[in-house]
Amino acid sequence: MRVIGLKVFAIVLGAASVTTCASAGGVPESHDLRGANAPASGQLTGLDLIRTNNCLACHQVNQKRVGPAFTLIAQRFAGQAGAAEYLAGAIRQGGKGRWGPVPMPAQPQVSPEQARAIAAWILTLAAPGFNPS
Ligand code: HEC
Repeated sequence: MRVIGLKVFAIVLGAASVTTCASAGGVPESHDLRGANAPASGQLTGLDLIRTNNCLACHQVNQKRVGPAFTLIAQRFAGQAGAAEYLAGAIRQGGKGRWGPVPMPAQPQVSPEQARAIAAWILTLAAPGFNPS
């Protein structure tokens, strides 16, 4: 950029010296904004993912349905080391015998990243006084 600018300046002024040009320029180095804080378009929150992945067919936030309420899951796992990772795995693999006789089918349509986002959201429900409604 600067080289081109200097050339243009020199052409316009004919015999202008490079020193004059540089001191007269005063143009800041170009700010390359490409890739800087590009908006994460399409990134969904945990709750959005729960809605779009049909989890609510079996789960509610505050009440037992086919599966346990998300708030109850949050309370069981809150504060445990590795809880988010464990829940992310449990979401994708499903399982049985942890909450009752009804099994949860595997959810392979949920990507590992989405499962982590959902697990993180579920765990926020354990915060005291948090009202998700
Ligand atoms: C067909 C019904 C059904 C669907 C659909 C379903 N679940 Fe479940 N889920 C269950 C049941 C039943 C359990 C309890 C399983 C058990 O007792 O081990 C459960 C358990 C869980 C648990 C607790 C796992 C544990 O180890 O304690 C989480 C977290 C969970 N579900 C999240 C989800 C999410 C997120 C989705 C959507 C991607 C989803 N579920 C979809 C029925 C379902």
